[in-house]
Amino acid sequence: MQPRSHFEALDAADPLAGLRQQFSLPPGVIYLDGNSLGVLPTRTAARIAGVVSHEWGEGLIRSWNSAGWIDLAARIGDKIATLIGAGPGEVVAADSTSVNLFKVLAAALRIARENDAQRTEIVSELGNFPTDLYIAQGLADLTGGAVTLKMVEREDILKTLSPRTAVLMLTHVNYKTGAMWDMPAVTQAAHDAGALMLWDLAHSAGAVPVDLRAAGADFAVGCGYKYLNGGPGAPAFVWAHAQHVERFWQPLSGWLGHAAPFAFTPDYQPATGIARYVCGTPPVLSMAALECGVDTVLAAEPLGGLAALRAKSMTLTDAFVAQVEARCAGMGLTLASPRDATLRGSQICFAHANAYEVMQALIARGVIGDFRAPDILRFGFTPLYTQHADVFDAVEHLHAVLSTGEWRDARYAKRNAVT
Ligand SMILES: Cc1ncc(COP(=O)(O)O)c(C=O)c1O
Repeated sequence: MQPRSHFEALDAADPLAGLRQQFSLPPGVIYLDGNSLGVLPTRTAARIAGVVSHEWGEGLIRSWNSAGWIDLAARIGDKIATLIGAGPGEVVAADSTSVNLFKVLAAALRIARENDAQRTEIVSELGNFPTDLYIAQGLADLTGGAVTLKMVEREDILKTLSPRTAVLMLTHVNYKTGAMWDMPAVTQAAHDAGALMLWDLAHSAGAVPVDLRAAGADFAVGCGYKYLNGGPGAPAFVWAHAQHVERFWQPLSGWLGHAAPFAFTPDYQPATGIARYVCGTPPVLSMAALECGVDTVLAAEPLGGLAALRAKSMTLTDAFVAQVEARCAGMGLTLASPRDATLRGSQICFAHANAYEVMQALIARGVIGDFRAPDILRFGFTPLYTQHADVFDAVEHLHAVLSTGEWRDARYAKRNAVT
């Protein structure tokens, strides 16, 4: 257990500490939920105001050209590409993660089928984020049973791969435990089994270094509103390996993914490359906010970029585990994340029998994390704005909530729609 002065000294010596100035953090809040919704960047409000009053208000329809609205998907995609080991022109910002999963799963299944007709199975982890599994189920249903989804326990994933596997679909960092797959090794195992590899980077992009090209992955999707700080419901992103670039199919063949949208021809002709993964008109206000969010992560580049952010994240999460286990020993908490920082993303989860109530009591005190059923207290650490002193202060609040039984107050048992 360390005194607050220990954490204050770490903050004083932290070369990334200044990056926090990029954010509008409400006073009195210790925010440990950037893995659900990133904090508002200070630049976003002015940018949105400018887009509304100048680009929309004055530029009107002209702004599609003059303000570059039509280029937003590719421009933001190129910025995100630098964070995930993809090349320029390989990523677009578009739609939601769920919708992008549908597109790339459909594409992967088609490529696999063309290569080998017996490869009709999607393999995934039972503990994957539900939307990944639901989208795969919906797609399987659409094929009338020709495609199936096989969901297995995490430890059984690799031995489940077979000559029937078309695509292995995994989330790089698990939403509930923070456990992180070894991307190059798992991708290699999928390829050795003749399957394609699809990664969901929702909890990775902007949080941990990712090198999709080096890993040889085939497809990836990810989220704009978590560690990319793009705002509630921000557009997501999608990547396909350049080797598939002329083969991947876009099942949601909307007009803005057409080779020549303003030719208005009746037949669909996909645009070259990743541009075909745009479907319809992008939400310009949300795109502008996403770009501001991505820029907050890119601002770490001169300070060592994701490698430096990752090092700070590992220090923060290690310190949190050590402090909780020392200060709150015997209070019913069990670590639910890998103890080894290299095996987890940027979050720490503890199981507790009354996790929901405990989290509500913490939130009432201004320590914001979240709850994942049935018993997980989830704390996200975003080194762009999380301070070392936040670790100490959050644990002091957790200790107070548990040691006094504060969480037993009836108001903390009321279940909200979003937990
Ligand atoms: C792994 C993963 N995929 C996808 C999503 C969400 O997808 P969408 O933005 O389409 O709601 C989440 C949300 O937390 C997630 O954790």
